[in-house]
Amino acid sequence: MFGKLSSTVRSFGYREYGGPMLESFDLYAAKTGEEIVNQQLYHMEDRGGRKIAVRPEMTPTMARMVAAKIHELPRPVRLFSIPNLWRYERPQRGRLREHWQLNVDVLGGDPLLAETEVLSLAVEIMRAFGGGERMQVRVNHRQLMDEFFTKRMELTTEQAHKVVKAIDARSKVDEAKFKGWLIEAGLQESKIAELEKFFSSNLDQIRNDLPCAGSEHLVALFRALEESGVSKQVVFDPTIMRGLDYYTGTVFEIYDVSPENHRAMFGGGRYDNLMGIFGKESLSGVGFGMGDVSLQNFLETHGLVPKFESEIDVFVSLPALSLRGLSEEVSRSLRNAGFNVMTPLSEGGFGQQLKLANKHEAKLVILFGEAELQEGKVVLKFLKTGEQFVIPKSEVVSQALSLLGGKV
Ligand code: HAM
Repeated sequence: MFGKLSSTVRSFGYREYGGPMLESFDLYAAKTGEEIVNQQLYHMEDRGGRKIAVRPEMTPTMARMVAAKIHELPRPVRLFSIPNLWRYERPQRGRLREHWQLNVDVLGGDPLLAETEVLSLAVEIMRAFGGGERMQVRVNHRQLMDEFFTKRMELTTEQAHKVVKAIDARSKVDEAKFKGWLIEAGLQESKIAELEKFFSSNLDQIRNDLPCAGSEHLVALFRALEESGVSKQVVFDPTIMRGLDYYTGTVFEIYDVSPENHRAMFGGGRYDNLMGIFGKESLSGVGFGMGDVSLQNFLETHGLVPKFESEIDVFVSLPALSLRGLSEEVSRSLRNAGFNVMTPLSEGGFGQQLKLANKHEAKLVILFGEAELQEGKVVLKFLKTGEQFVIPKSEVVSQALSLLGGKV
C-alpha cells in the first residue's frame, strides 16, 4: 500500500523527507489546533526538564525543517513523508491512537497551480488504487467563510470560531446537538436559517451574492482543475472547515462516496503563516495528510486492497556449501544489474530450494546441477510459466533481463 502511495507521489517530482518523533511541546502549542493540543497530545518532561511532545502531525516539523533551509531548497519545494503519528483519541473505525500518514506538501509556486497539483495528486493516488470513481474531493475557502461570518452574519471573531468548530464536528452529532451549539454561540433562528441557505448554495450563487477574493479564487481553481482532467472528482462544499488552525485559504476533504463508507478519508489545505513563527521568510504552502486506517477501510469496502506482490526477483540456490563462491558470484552480478536477489542461507537439494523460492514468491530461480556445471552452465527456472532454461553462467543477467523486463 505504502509503495503505491510513494510511487504515485514521486511521479509528480516530490522528494521524501524524514523527521524526529519528538518535538518541543511549544511547536504544537503555537500552531496545531486546540483539540489536538489540549486533548490528544502525548507529552512529557525529559530528564533535562524540557517539555516535549510525541508528534501528532507532521506539518509543524516539516515547516520547521524547511524554514531552516529556506534559502537552499529549490522552489517550489515539493515534499512527502509517511511518518507514524500519535493522538490520544478513542480508538474507533478510521481512528487509532497510532497511525501512519502520507503527507504531501508544496511550498512556493503560484498558489492556484500548486493547489491544482496537490488536488490532482490526491485524485491520482485514489486512481492508482482503482478507486478514482468512488471518491470525491470537497473544497472550500477559509477567506470566503471569514467574509460570510463577519460581513453577512456579523459574527464576532469568537462566535465565528465556535461556529467553525460546530460545523467541523457536525457529521459526528445529530441535528439537535448541532443546532444547540449554534445557539450556544449566540446565533438566533434567522442567522441559523441564513447559514443553512448558504450551505445549500452553489459556487455561482455565492460568487454573485458574496463577491470576494475567496470565491474568485475557487472559481479560478475549478477552471484549472478542469485543465488537469480531475474536475469531475472535485466539488465545492461550503461545509468543509478543517479542524486545524493554521489553514488560511483553500481547504479540502476527500470523501468516500459509497453509502456504506460515507466519510471523510483525508484532507488538507493552504497555510500562509506557518513558517513565520521560526522568524524566517514566510513561504506559503499547501498540502494534505492521508491516514492509512481510512485508506485501508476504503480499499476493503470496495474490494481494492492490492494483492501482495513479492519484491524478490531471483532466488539463487545453494545446493552445497562448496558451491557458495559460485552462488555468491551469480547473486552479485544480478544485484549489480538492479535485481532483488535472495539466497537461502543454508544448503539444500533442488526440490527443497524450489519449494522455498515458491514460498517467497520469487520470479526466477537459479539452480546449479552437477551435469550443467561441468559445461559451465546453470539452470534458470521461470516460476510463473514453469519453463526451464539451461544457459551459460555468463548469460544469467541477460536472460533475467529478457524474462523480467528491463530493471536497469
Ligand atoms: P488531519 O486532518 O488532522 O490533518 O489528519 C489528516 C488525516 O490523517 C485524516 O483525514 C485521517 O485520514 C488521518 N488521521 C488523523 N488522525 C487519525 C487517527 N487518530 N487515526 C487514524 N487516522 C488519522 C493533518 O494532520 C495535517 N497536518 C495534514 C496536512 C498536511 N495539511 C497540510 N499538509
